[in-house]
Amino acid sequence: MKKPIIIANWKMNKNVDQAVNFLRQVMDQLPDGKTELFGIAPQAFAIYPMLEMTKHTPLQIIGQNAATKYDGAYTGEISVRDLAEMGVNYVMLGHSERRRIFKETNATINEKVLAATHAGVTPIVCTNEEQEPVVIDGHIHYTFRQLRNVLHGVPTSQVKDIILSFEPSGSIGYGHTADLDLAERGCREIRQEVARNYGELIASQVRILYGGSVNPSNIQTIMSQPDIDGVLIGRASLDPVKFIEMLNFQHPKVTSMPLNQI
Ligand code: PGA
Repeated sequence: MKKPIIIANWKMNKNVDQAVNFLRQVMDQLPDGKTELFGIAPQAFAIYPMLEMTKHTPLQIIGQNAATKYDGAYTGEISVRDLAEMGVNYVMLGHSERRRIFKETNATINEKVLAATHAGVTPIVCTNEEQEPVVIDGHIHYTFRQLRNVLHGVPTSQVKDIILSFEPSGSIGYGHTADLDLAERGCREIRQEVARNYGELIASQVRILYGGSVNPSNIQTIMSQPDIDGVLIGRASLDPVKFIEMLNFQHPKVTSMPLNQI
């Protein structure tokens, strides 16, 4: 069984003091060896102090976004090459909030993915159903189109190293709950699409995360699904107690409850 990947997406929350205080509370409770990767994506200005504090720990400090270009006249943007030089190994790209609020297109996200891979930073590429809601025969074909477009030009040998994430927009943020059936189905269909485009081997190696209303009470059931390799957590990850609880969840072998009853 693959070890899980657990990513906290703090979005536009926590100033430097709050981020540093959070780390102080969790540093001596970080799990060792249970997860393949765990990390926090803070606001950009908190990356450096958090990197300094976590240098000798397995906790990764992750970018929430990066530009398509490495430098130049792009006011307000963040260079992924400079993130790499600072010691950042992962960057989230194409989160549904970037698509919906900041109108990022698949073409822009694709440029960012290429810039990140060339800089040696692993993209965590988010897909959802919002851009192209084309449902054919009950299947979510919109996700596939996003996937093909955002990975365009990535050499096949590098696709397995990119982390993909399925984030149905109806499950993200306040007032929503995780639709666990949709979570597994979305991740499974993304894996099947990777198999069609890049072959079965890469599809079995690529890591696919689910994001949307993950919390300490549902993480175990979500992670028991065969095609879900990890989770992206927003709200619940802002609380240090919940964050540690989720990092230390018991990795289940079987689903203990029917999906729709969580
Ligand atoms: P949420 O956010 O856990 O607050 O629903 C998830 C995400 O946007 O990645």
